Amino acid sequence: MILTPARKHDAAHLAAMSRRLIEAGLEPCWTKERIERSLKHEDSVVLTARLHGQIGGFGIMQYGDSAAHLNLLAVEPMHRRHGIGLKLVRWLEDTARGAGIFKIELEVRAINAGARAFYQTLGYEETKLIEGYYQNVEDAIRLSRDLTSAHIQ
Ligand SMILES: CC(C)(COP(=O)(O)OP(=O)(O)OC[C@H]1O[C@@H](n2cnc3c(N)ncnc32)[C@H](O)[C@@H]1OP(=O)(O)O)[C@@H](O)C(=O)NCCC(=O)NCCS
Repeated sequence: MILTPARKHDAAHLAAMSRRLIEAGLEPCWTKERIERSLKHEDSVVLTARLHGQIGGFGIMQYGDSAAHLNLLAVEPMHRRHGIGLKLVRWLEDTARGAGIFKIELEVRAINAGARAFYQTLGYEETKLIEGYYQNVEDAIRLSRDLTSAHIQ
């Protein structure tokens, strides 16, 4: 498995992964065009995990002044529980540190018990329930991690 920045021609594939693995049942927000904008935007990184050249997982992080926001993260079901999600997140956290940003924030669907357990294992704390965050129909949990006191794994 190698971690490598996404390329422009990956955008449609990543949008399809987001629809299928992250946004299922919601109106998809992460279109090919939006992912292309993230690819071009100097404040974002679109990172892929490739296995034998195929995309097995990806993450999108947006870097702000005081915090970085993990917008999307997904690993294909057949590749889960092999540490790919953890490696994607740690790589993205390292780039935040390198840019002098020591706080990571993200939202996850409240019903997504697997992802909530994953982030807590990685040291993220659930800080807030946001009602109706997703298209006024579904609640989100906000999580954050303070990298200044984080133990580097
Ligand atoms: C959440 C997700 C990215 C995790 O990816 P992954 O590659 O399977 O995660 P890892 O293998 O790196 O997991 C690291 C640790 O997190 C914990 N963990 C991961 N998935 C978990 C789950 N479903 N339930 C409980 N704990 C879990 C475990 O402690 C795991 O270590 P272990 O396998 O040695 O027990 C993946 O399940 C996924 O793509 N889910 C659908 C999309 C999604 O929910 N994205 C997040 C919101 S944007």
